[in-house]
Order: sequence, then structure tokens, then C-alpha cells
Amino acid sequence: MRKILFVCLGNICRSPLAEGICLHLIKENNLNNILIDSAGTASYHVNEAPDKRTIANAKKHNVNLSQLKARQFNASDFTLFDEIYVMDNSNYRNVINLTSNTTEKEKVKLLLSIDNFEYEEVPDPYYGNENDFEKVFQLVYKASTVLLGIK
Ligand code: 4NP
Repeated sequence: MRKILFVCLGNICRSPLAEGICLHLIKENNLNNILIDSAGTASYHVNEAPDKRTIANAKKHNVNLSQLKARQFNASDFTLFDEIYVMDNSNYRNVINLTSNTTEKEKVKLLLSIDNFEYEEVPDPYYGNENDFEKVFQLVYKASTVLLGIK
């Protein structure tokens, strides 16, 4: 069983999008034995649904995020998950700061480090416009296909 966690700052834009895209791809490709979740390093949006703009953009691509709810990352996630993908360098630092050993550190990677992408980080779209949300969707979608081994 692969256990994958996506992490961003608020858990309302980028990481729930990654979770929803992966759940969509898992269903579409009949994949088994993959557990997906997402969390935010901050607590500002705990229990909130994803950002309305993220939900609307994902819906255009047939990805439904409406049932997801934000939660905060915590140290027990290092035990529950084998692969922890963070969206940007700031998330990376925040998560690494909570590790207590090398095994935990090795689980944490920048999502866009898994292949050659035009960006190193998934940019934070929170203060951006519709194009920024679309850009995030395209980056996260491509990375998700690579992660799940889908052509
Ligand atoms: P996310 O985006 O980390 O992709 O969920 C953000 C959401 C909320 C805030 C910043 C980024 N915020 O400052 O509230």
C-alpha cells in the first residue's frame, strides 16, 4: 500500500487539489492500494472546504473537491505516510522542522522534484487570478500522473 500525503500552507488551494486530482486519476485508471490525503502546515483554515476558486477551476476539469476539509499537518503524519510531497520551499522547511530523525526527513520531497518541470515549486495562487489557479492545476495534474505512473 502506498501512503501519500500532500502538504501546502493552508490546505485549501494546492494540496487538496493534488488530493482530488489523484483520487480522480486512481478511479479513472482503476488503481489499487494507494492512500491519499492532504494537510496544511498552518491552522488558519482547519475544517474549511477548499477555496472556492480552486473548487471552480478543478470542476472545469471534472475533478470534484467539494467534500474535502482542511486539516493541519502534525508529527503523527510521519508515521501514517511513506511519501510526503510539499508544494514549495517554505512548506518544506516547515515540515522538515517537525521531523525527529532521518527516516522522517527522507519521506519529505518537493512535489515538482519528481520530474523535470518548468517550475521548482507549485506557486501559491491565493493572491492570484484565474490564470494562476489554472497554472497550478496544470502543474499538479502533470505531477500527479508522474507520481501515479500514468502515461
Ligand atoms: P494553499 O494556499 O497553501 O495552497 O492552501 C493558501 C491558502 C491560504 C493562505 C495562503 C496560501 N492564507 O494566507 O490564508
